[in-house]
Amino acid sequence: MQKSILILGACGQIGTELTFELRAKYGSENVVASDIREGGQTLMESGPFELLDATNYEAIEDVIMHYEIEEVYLMAAMLSATAEKFPMRAWNLNMNSLFNVLNLAKDNKISKIFWPSSIAVFGPNTPKNNTAQNTIMEPSTVYGISKQSGERWCEYYFKKFGVDVRSVRYPGLISWKTMPGGGTTDYAVEIYHAALEQGKYQCFLNQDTKLPMMYMDDAIKATISLMESNPEKLKVRSSYNLGSMSFTPKEITESIQKHIPDFEVTYVPDFRQEIADSWPSSIDDTAAKHDWNWKPEFDLDSTTAEMLNNLKKTS
Ligand SMILES: NC(=O)c1ccc[n+]([C@@H]2O[C@H](COP(=O)([O-])OP(=O)(O)OC[C@H]3O[C@@H](n4cnc5c(N)ncnc54)[C@H](O)[C@@H]3O)[C@@H](O)[C@H]2O)c1
Repeated sequence: MQKSILILGACGQIGTELTFELRAKYGSENVVASDIREGGQTLMESGPFELLDATNYEAIEDVIMHYEIEEVYLMAAMLSATAEKFPMRAWNLNMNSLFNVLNLAKDNKISKIFWPSSIAVFGPNTPKNNTAQNTIMEPSTVYGISKQSGERWCEYYFKKFGVDVRSVRYPGLISWKTMPGGGTTDYAVEIYHAALEQGKYQCFLNQDTKLPMMYMDDAIKATISLMESNPEKLKVRSSYNLGSMSFTPKEITESIQKHIPDFEVTYVPDFRQEIADSWPSSIDDTAAKHDWNWKPEFDLDSTTAEMLNNLKKTS
């Protein structure tokens, strides 16, 4: 089955791996990667690339017409930690880019959208354990406020205009191909690099901060599987809770120490601790399991084995 796809923000942590996987599945020429900057060499050489600002409606429209794009994956955003430093820039990027793709779909220029939300839509008043799909939200970060607003707009465009927009609330994502882009869960990637390169790591969260996390392969599988699902089965048009594993900095350290016994971690919490404290510890993803058969494969120890093996090979 051939279709043409555009990825906005393709050079980031998720966009890079999503581009590779979609190209493997639908053919390199059918998947156009785009970003405001160039990405890694392997990404740039793997298929068509456009320098494109996701806040510029006309520029996106031109690319969509030129390549006869049917589906858009919007991965451009400012993440939680950076957004606290630049609130208005974060709001403008996260909301304007979303309105651009929603309006392109409303005007029948594209037929399907993927837009990621986040566990940051929840806040300090949300029940922390096994957090339900529908519960108290009240996000307390700039990023979380933009994601919750985004969810409301996605559902609104689906109900009012029939826009086929699909979304998941990603937990913190762990990957080895691209470094993370300024989130509160970045420690869970940095720690593997530090374990191999320095044998020690200073963690910016305290050792008992338990957060929902996921290995990138599972996140990419979830994304593509949701996009390929029968639309009639999708009952959630805001964003689906997506669960996999939950762990603390102490637990990831112990998992790494099974491979590198001398690895040492110190804990010096910074402003990101407050963000992490406002988020859930674990996620109830019954709706995703029921509606589109979501099933994660990686737990903490298999993630650690994959991360260390792959980082060793690439160093
Ligand atoms: N990585 C995670 O753990 C995580 C967790 C939850 C949700 N998410 C969401 O997933 C999406 C992708 O996240 P990521 O981790 O890949 O982020 P990232 O920061 O690694 O990548 C974002 C990309 O967007 C690009 N970008 C920034 N401004 C742009 C603009 N105006 N036009 C075009 N491109 C622009 C950046 O250059 C970057 O390559 C975001 O919506 C993010 O909120 C990520």
